[in-house]
Amino acid sequence: MHLKNISLTTEGLNIEFQNGAKDCFPYLWLRDHCKDVENWDERSNQRKLFTALVDPNIQIEETKIIEDNKTVEVKWPDMSKTVHYSGDFLYKNSLVNTSLVSDKILWDKKTINNVELEIKFDELAKDEGFKNLLQTIKIYGFSIINNCPTEIKTVEYIANKIGYVRNSIFGDLWSFESNTEMADSAYTQEELRPHTDGTYNHDAPGLQLLLCCEYEAEGGESIMVDGFKIAQILKENDKISFDTLSEIDIPGRYYGDGVELIAKRPVFKSRNQELIQVSFNNYDRGDFRLPNNRIHDFYTAIRKFDKLANDKEMQWRQILKPGQLLIFNNWRVLHGRSEFTGKRKMSGCYINKEDFESVCRINSV
Ligand SMILES: [Fe+2]
Repeated sequence: MHLKNISLTTEGLNIEFQNGAKDCFPYLWLRDHCKDVENWDERSNQRKLFTALVDPNIQIEETKIIEDNKTVEVKWPDMSKTVHYSGDFLYKNSLVNTSLVSDKILWDKKTINNVELEIKFDELAKDEGFKNLLQTIKIYGFSIINNCPTEIKTVEYIANKIGYVRNSIFGDLWSFESNTEMADSAYTQEELRPHTDGTYNHDAPGLQLLLCCEYEAEGGESIMVDGFKIAQILKENDKISFDTLSEIDIPGRYYGDGVELIAKRPVFKSRNQELIQVSFNNYDRGDFRLPNNRIHDFYTAIRKFDKLANDKEMQWRQILKPGQLLIFNNWRVLHGRSEFTGKRKMSGCYINKEDFESVCRINSV
């Protein structure tokens, strides 16, 4: 971004960008963001400056625009050399830069389309195919990878392309058939109502991968529901329930197999008014007591959420066949499975949210 004008004021450095946007950058903030060799380690990309030792009332001594209006040169009183700030850097950090648009498309049964969701396993080896996968997960919250080799190594290969396999109480890579020995409801053949995993983790798994390795069964449809769509509907139609699910910290609990994990957060977790995570798992909800005057609103809100999550008009449903892998954002999309009879063998793993975000950044997705 090119720069048009700059001026020093008592508040900070006033900047007018080429597109007419104006912002005032406080001096202390600018001093803290010096990216020269004295203040910044280029090899490790870490701050060298001891910010706490900078004079809180520091001011710029001299400044000018250089390099074809793309850079601001600054002379600070506590440094011998001048420091450069690029127009792009300043604009990126400007409070008036509102170019950040949501890259999510919220969906329901009518608006979700398999053509946009499906990717062939072979395509992941190419840059374009891999970026396509990342983009699809970013936009819709999930993707289906077809023609996968039906072995656990496939899960590992895809996970390692994105980040790394996350270890948990279930191990790193897992395989399961219906197994009544395990404590978790995921091992039964009964209906699994839509939920998110890891409500008992402070940092819930970011992505989940589920590969169908064998299917000799009746039923067992995989179910995906856009939790962000549920949030949108409740926000527009039932503000009390939306607020209730945004405010009340609900404990998730995993007790068994030698551990007792507990974490708490609201169903709708937001930051600066922006929804960042949906967490809902009625199976794993721990015991907790609200003041009596909140009980009614809480159960009403849970009921409304559950009704929407189980409304077939809100769901994508499909029986996964051997070689199909479902990969989904566990911070957004709820997953479930209809009941089945017969044999169904799945393999899967978790990936951390930050590692998915990282691979998206690195690939400019
Ligand atoms: Fe689950």
